[in-house]
Amino acid sequence: MQSNSEKTNAFKEAMANYPTGVTVVTAIDDNDKPIGLTVNSFASVSLDPLLVLWSIDKRVSTYETFKKIDQFAINLLADNQADIASLFAKSHQDRFANCDWYQSQHQLPIIKGVMASLQCKTFKQIEAGDHTILIGEVVAIDVDKKGPLVYHGRKMGALPASFHEQ
Ligand SMILES: Cc1cc2nc3c(=O)[nH]c(=O)nc-3n(C[C@H](O)[C@H](O)[C@H](O)COP(=O)(O)O)c2cc1C
Repeated sequence: MQSNSEKTNAFKEAMANYPTGVTVVTAIDDNDKPIGLTVNSFASVSLDPLLVLWSIDKRVSTYETFKKIDQFAINLLADNQADIASLFAKSHQDRFANCDWYQSQHQLPIIKGVMASLQCKTFKQIEAGDHTILIGEVVAIDVDKKGPLVYHGRKMGALPASFHEQ
């Protein structure tokens, strides 16, 4: 029988070994200030309507704000934006003073140079253990022809060249 801590450690190792893209989820708070954090729990959910999801740790400093507001943007980072991923994952940094971004027509912060941005209206929130799953309906999309930033084994980088040779 696996103990709980053995299972937790194996779970962390399996998840660290499972590659994902990297996003920064952003929004504007009640004081008109931009907020955001690095997120790799992002996934697509539905085509009709267009739905995506991500999950937020209840310990995140802006957790209550993300629960309260009714829209957010998913910025899909490009392969040269590992510094942005680190910036939005470290506490006590002035994140938006240290990257190029603009406010969209939907009043959402969009980071410049991303491979895509999805602007979403909150569709549903689901409590799930120590996280909350936020499902968004996509109301606007911009896509640029760029490679994705990949997270694997606690490291970030571009897809290996071999990936394109298949
Ligand atoms: C690659 C990567 C993926 C992450 N994914 C998530 C995620 O899906 N959900 C989450 O709540 N935090 C995630 N985090 C952690 C947050 O980005 C980090 O805790 C951030 O500092 C939280 O914002 P705060 O400092 O305002 O609390 C991730 C961090 C990294 C480096």
